[in-house]
Amino acid sequence: MRLKDCYNTEQFRLLAKQRLPSPIFHYIDGAADDEITYRRNTSAYEDCDLVPNVLAGVEEIDLSTTVMGKTIDLPLMLSPTALQRLFHHEGERAVGQAAQQFNTWFGISSLGTISIEEVARTISSPKMFQLYVHKDKGLNESMIQRCKDANFDAIALTVDTIVGGNRERDLVTGFTSPPRLTPRSLLSFALHPAWALNYFLREKFELSQLKDYVDEGTNIQLSVSDYFTSMLDQSMTWETAEKINAQWGKQFCLKGIMSVEDAKRAVDIGATAIMISNHGGRQLDGSRSPFDQLAEIVDAVGDKIEVICDGGIRRGSHVLKALSLGATACSGGRLYLYALAAAGQAGVEKALGNFRTEIERDMKLMGAKSVADLGRGNLRFR
Ligand code: LAC
Repeated sequence: MRLKDCYNTEQFRLLAKQRLPSPIFHYIDGAADDEITYRRNTSAYEDCDLVPNVLAGVEEIDLSTTVMGKTIDLPLMLSPTALQRLFHHEGERAVGQAAQQFNTWFGISSLGTISIEEVARTISSPKMFQLYVHKDKGLNESMIQRCKDANFDAIALTVDTIVGGNRERDLVTGFTSPPRLTPRSLLSFALHPAWALNYFLREKFELSQLKDYVDEGTNIQLSVSDYFTSMLDQSMTWETAEKINAQWGKQFCLKGIMSVEDAKRAVDIGATAIMISNHGGRQLDGSRSPFDQLAEIVDAVGDKIEVICDGGIRRGSHVLKALSLGATACSGGRLYLYALAAAGQAGVEKALGNFRTEIERDMKLMGAKSVADLGRGNLRFR
């Protein structure tokens, strides 16, 4: 498998599997329990069909949409994800540059491996910060203040990681951040020398937003699931979210909303957007898929808040289906993480290029000249 042969997410996935030590690949690829929700996130898109209109004069297609006050050129956003320099030494730098090139939203995680300030300095396209509320209140304050000082465009508060999901692949491989050096992990590093040389000889791995407050994740090895369970604030409530929104005062998104009731509460606390998301199936297995929940959430709050459909997207046609149901935009993590692991910035650019080509081709085939042309009439459930 070579980069030039990667035409779809699955091919990037296979290339990533080839390039990465297995504990790292399985951290990205894996999900909770039996991974039913993870699979459903994608297969939900197969339960309905697109119904095209023709003879629409589709020479020029406008793929733009406006999310949280920013017009982006692709209705597909890059969800914030953790630990990116572990997957490829270019990490968030590569993903941010690719997002900028395609003019879409890029998100940096509280568990990111470059700093909020560097993102602000180097990326001029729309930026969000993914906030995990920690038990350490000083750390929470510091991250919000840093986003303010760096003039970030939005904060996405993660609401679906109150404890860590049961990621059994990580239990089997022993995956931790930073990676634990055991005879078995050293063997898997030795089998992937290009990755290992980059990891050990380049800039030291760190969790840039956290390292001045907590050693876990940067110097103390911990699984991500244990990190969530031991470090995050389980007492977080709607009042917490409301306070953070007031303190931040700019575009505010709740990432991990699944129910209509919570979507209404997000409107009530003044959030500007919600990401319907089950964290890529990595938290509550058995949870419904974002696409399955999309219509009822759009019907309830779609005129009051922006609705982003996150997770499971593998094809341009999936994006079209979500937009037809009324999503403002879609977003995803693995869809660019496999490409990052496979080939750094060039990989992410190729993945985004593939999506742009597919979305544009499919819009033409659907007879839709812009995102606004897609509606419920374009979709039938079986
Ligand atoms: C995950 C977090 C870090 O591993 O987003 O799911």
